[in-house]
Amino acid sequence: MIRYPGVTTKLVILLGNPLGHSISPPMHNRVFEKLGMDYCYMPVEVTGKNLQKVFSGLSKMNVAGFNVTVPHKIDIIESLDELDPLAATIGAVNTIIVKNGKTKGYNTDGEGFIRSFEEETHDTVKGKRFFLLGCGGAARAIAMTLAFHGAEKIYIYNRTPAKAVRLAEEINKKIRSCTKVVGQSLENQRTAIAGCDVLINSTSIGMHPRADELPIDNSLISPDLIVADIVYNPLMTKLLRTAKDKGCTIVPGLGMLIYQGAAAFKLFTGTDPLIEEMSEAAHSLMASKQ
Ligand code: ATR
Repeated sequence: MIRYPGVTTKLVILLGNPLGHSISPPMHNRVFEKLGMDYCYMPVEVTGKNLQKVFSGLSKMNVAGFNVTVPHKIDIIESLDELDPLAATIGAVNTIIVKNGKTKGYNTDGEGFIRSFEEETHDTVKGKRFFLLGCGGAARAIAMTLAFHGAEKIYIYNRTPAKAVRLAEEINKKIRSCTKVVGQSLENQRTAIAGCDVLINSTSIGMHPRADELPIDNSLISPDLIVADIVYNPLMTKLLRTAKDKGCTIVPGLGMLIYQGAAAFKLFTGTDPLIEEMSEAAHSLMASKQ
């Protein structure tokens, strides 16, 4: 059913570019409809050049909040009135609420990962040792949030080592000294991973259309590891299939997307969303793309 927003409808706006692939609008709109809430979630594609003007104009409308995605998660910060401490530490914002004309930025990406991890493993991240592959925007939010939530150790491995060094130093300085950069050799990786409970792939390796690629040497995946992937297209990446075949507990990437959306939904509305509805919308959309 297509529902058109009325005068009293609260808007939630997704800012990014491009947005054609985003499953956030149907995910949120489905829950608004199920809960009978007069909200409408709309994607607005905007280029960097127009970001500030568009954001400033839209914030003056009947807007409950915004989601922000690639490539604006960092640049939007200068337009905000307030910043949540975790978002300030991460240095990127994916959710903004508008209250009494004031805007406040949050980052729910890392929290989305953690909730997905906890749902799939029935365990917590506190005290665990993580081997993180990659250190782009997503990795940054995940690593900072893990450190914030008491991860014991985060080993960071990246194709470009200088970026791993920068991220590790930043976490040690801003949150707590809990990171270590992993050297490039297979043996360095083997030694680090042997002391870890969880492997997280936060690189784009394994993403459609290069779905036959593994982000790490097969011999490093041992059955006692929990293996998480942030790639969700395909839903079962080669890494997750390989890990599952070896007997590992796995954490698929779509969960992070669903739970970062759930955390944003709560911020926009003050109401907990229906996770099953969000999940069903996300899965059916992904299934139509496979
Ligand atoms: P996002 O914001 O989605 O996290 P990103 O900022 O482009 O995306 O980061 C992608 C990550 O995947 C980076 O860590 C990147 O490594 P580099 O820092 O060396 O660029 C990693 N990555 C992407 N493709 C890769 C490949 N083919 N091999 C190894 N690492 C790769």
